[in-house]
Amino acid sequence: ARTAVVIPAAGRGVRLGPGAPKALRALGGTPMLIHAVRAMAASRAVSLVVVVAPPDGAAEVKSLLDAHALPERTDFLVVPGGQSRQESVKLGLDALPQGHDIVLVHDAARPLVPVDTVDAVIEAVRDGAPAVVPALPLADTVKQVEPARTPGEPEPVVATPERARLRAVQTPQGFDRATLVRAHETVTGDVTDDAGMVEQLGLTVVAVPGHEEAFKVTRPLDLVLAEAVLARRRL
Ligand code: CTP
Ligand code: MG
Repeated sequence: ARTAVVIPAAGRGVRLGPGAPKALRALGGTPMLIHAVRAMAASRAVSLVVVVAPPDGAAEVKSLLDAHALPERTDFLVVPGGQSRQESVKLGLDALPQGHDIVLVHDAARPLVPVDTVDAVIEAVRDGAPAVVPALPLADTVKQVEPARTPGEPEPVVATPERARLRAVQTPQGFDRATLVRAHETVTGDVTDDAGMVEQLGLTVVAVPGHEEAFKVTRPLDLVLAEAVLARRRL
């Protein structure tokens, strides 16, 4: 079964602060998106990568991909994204040609995921899971609160889920293509990951071990960590 990857890269990166769209920010001198594309193309199973670019940045992303060395066995497509991550992923799925039975969805904001994690996700889909997420145990205890009406006000704690049963979920998430397409066609409402949509179809999602280096670059401190990880790899 051939594998395609959809990379949503159309976000602004508001939490990272002012500047270029997050996916185009440099990491070790190379745009974050290029790192993310290379991380996917590093898997021998991946034959197509669809990059979902900022709505007005598709041409710029296309020339970026042309300017950087990428494996010959992989094809690339660029499509403009939408207002939400969910919408961007849907636009990427709509652009997928026939012939790819497994689809991964990977955040451009997770540029440093190791290829072993990518391969483990693909392997679990090949073994028959309709949806697979890489996941890690949590370091912090998590509390559910009643959100304050005014930001900064104390918030009553409602519950403390058992930490040992919680996981922080990363990308790439892997799917049987038909299942992911159906999820994006039928599930509405706010979701923060694609596997959550498959759960809403009533299907079982499985978790495989994630990786520390698959963390999402979200806030300025994450850029410091990403630069340090890259520097360590280059030693
Ligand atoms: N994304 C997208 N289209 C959107 C919003 C987000 O393709 N309309 C992508 C981002 O480019 C990123 C991934 O979804 O690769 C994960 O989203 P997140 O980390 O939240 O990135 P941003 O939405 O860009 O950041 P922020 O929420 O801080 O603005
Ligand atoms: Mg966002």
